[in-house]
Amino acid sequence: MNDNVQYSMDSIKIAKPSVLDLFLLLRLFNKAVNEEYSIYNDDTKKIILKRHSFLHLLIARGKPNRTIFMSIIEQRCVGVCLGTTSDDGVGVINWIYVLPKYRNMNIARKMLEVSEKEFERRNCHKLLVTTEVAQDFYRKIGYKEEAVLKKHWWGKDFYYFSKLLGS
Ligand SMILES: CC(C)(COP(=O)(O)OP(=O)(O)OC[C@H]1O[C@@H](n2cnc3c(N)ncnc32)[C@H](O)[C@@H]1OP(=O)(O)O)[C@@H](O)C(=O)NCCC(=O)NCCS
Repeated sequence: MNDNVQYSMDSIKIAKPSVLDLFLLLRLFNKAVNEEYSIYNDDTKKIILKRHSFLHLLIARGKPNRTIFMSIIEQRCVGVCLGTTSDDGVGVINWIYVLPKYRNMNIARKMLEVSEKEFERRNCHKLLVTTEVAQDFYRKIGYKEEAVLKKHWWGKDFYYFSKLLGS
């Protein structure tokens, strides 16, 4: 596990993954897509997983415009939050996931808070998320709904939520 811990609360640590940790993240992605995205058919799941292969994660980890934070409890990777920063000032959260057993412990909230700080540090004034399944979660943690794109990626309705940073 990585020593580069960004946040620590009781037993929960939020940190950037080491290269070895990427194998733990892979397992998390597989579990998430195979067990929780029943709205997608098998072909779509395969494409989503291909986009999160070890190589993709390794490249993302090395890119200066990407953010990857993982949550760790007792040496176990229980959550992940991926993002992309931009020099136009608007950052994007690409993916957030917490293992079912560890939900409602504020882990996703904390990963987003750590990500928001990182986006601010990289001169972003706004953070954007898109979701097809977690609208109520984003509302709950103070993100504002900006738009809905009907029959969008994979033919699903996608909701755009955002938060102004530094306010
Ligand atoms: C959505 C998800 C990331 C939330 O993770 P989590 O760690 O359980 O969330 P938190 O504990 O930080 O929740 C923060 C608050 O939001 C609430 N909340 C969490 N999930 C919620 C949901 N699906 N709907 C409504 N409220 C939710 C919590 O109760 C908590 O409220 P509180 O402040 O009153 O206690 C997690 O349920 C998940 O991984 N789901 C499957 C994948 C997914 O939907 N990802 C998002 C796709 S963009």
